[in-house]
Amino acid sequence: MDKLDQLVNEARTAFAAAADGAALEQAKARFLGKSGLVTEQLKALGGLAPEEKRERGAAINRAKTAIEAALEARRDSLRAAALDAQLAAERLDVTLPGRGPAPGGLHPVSRTLERIERLFHSIGFVIADGPEIETDWYNFTALNLPPNHPARSMQDTFFLDGRDEVLRTHTSPVQIRAMLAHAERHRGRDIMPDLRIIAPGRVYRVDSDATHSPMFHQIEVLWVGERVSFADLKGVAVDFLRQFFETEALQVRFRPSFFPFTEPSAEIDVGFMGGALEGRWLEIAGCGMVHPNVLRCGGIDPERHTGFAFGFGLDRLAMLRYGVGDLRLFFEGDLRFLSQFR
Ligand code: FA5
Ligand code: MG
Repeated sequence: MDKLDQLVNEARTAFAAAADGAALEQAKARFLGKSGLVTEQLKALGGLAPEEKRERGAAINRAKTAIEAALEARRDSLRAAALDAQLAAERLDVTLPGRGPAPGGLHPVSRTLERIERLFHSIGFVIADGPEIETDWYNFTALNLPPNHPARSMQDTFFLDGRDEVLRTHTSPVQIRAMLAHAERHRGRDIMPDLRIIAPGRVYRVDSDATHSPMFHQIEVLWVGERVSFADLKGVAVDFLRQFFETEALQVRFRPSFFPFTEPSAEIDVGFMGGALEGRWLEIAGCGMVHPNVLRCGGIDPERHTGFAFGFGLDRLAMLRYGVGDLRLFFEGDLRFLSQFR
């Protein structure tokens, strides 16, 4: 092969082997630079005869042009490859879904509570509350459950070491707090307006099975006035349950029972016709006419006033409304369960 063709081939190979712009410039210098291989050939022309010189010069220039073209082509392809790499690295898929925080939702027990509050608001009840760490007096004694009363053991709870306090076992102590505040507000007047409150909140007991949780929620309902009767209690309870469950197919049963703080007392069971809970009765509340001793502890005259009260199990109501078979699911924090209520 002619020396010049060989040079062109060598240049093409060297340019192709250059992996980036810097390597390519180095290869260029080796062929086209001031002391490069092509320049060397041109310098050698000096010793040739004029005829030979013209021919050889023209051949060298053709070779030079071919090498320059190869250089330019390699520059273009390196530039295109760099651009492709950059585009690939910076690629952005604008059609992907966004990565914001997942939407949350209210806990089913909170939703149940909101619903109950709305229903009782609509018939004139206001919300009252009390502490979850309650004194023995409010939780038991003022509710006609003096120390060593056997009924205390029905509500076994957590006692605070060395203090006269317990984690409240029910929301009934709020009855006392609300009555004392109400009596104080209207002290010395001829007429005391009716007291109508609901008191939702957490309560605690040594309990655990499918329908009992050691921490659960109750809603206390209390109405004290001059002519409040058991008929009012039944009317309010049944009407509330019909509206809460949005069905007339609901069966409500008042079962005679005992609470030291009410007389007479009953427990309210709810039964369903149809659905997953067909044929099952579930106790949802205790209730009764407020015992005179309890009215007295609340600063209210039992000769003049009567009242009814009930304590609903909020989680039980949520269970029934949503058809949940095990109440403990509400408190395990499992998103597969909770996200169904979003
Ligand atoms: C009481 O706690 C009374 N204070 C209710 C009351 C209020 C009676 C006012 C009279 C007047 P009882 O222990 O039955 O009663 O509880 C009331 C409701 O709370 C039950 O009907 C049930 O629905 C719910 N409940 C009781 N224990 C648990 C538990 N461990 N887990 C979930 N719900 C419970
Ligand atoms: Mg009970």
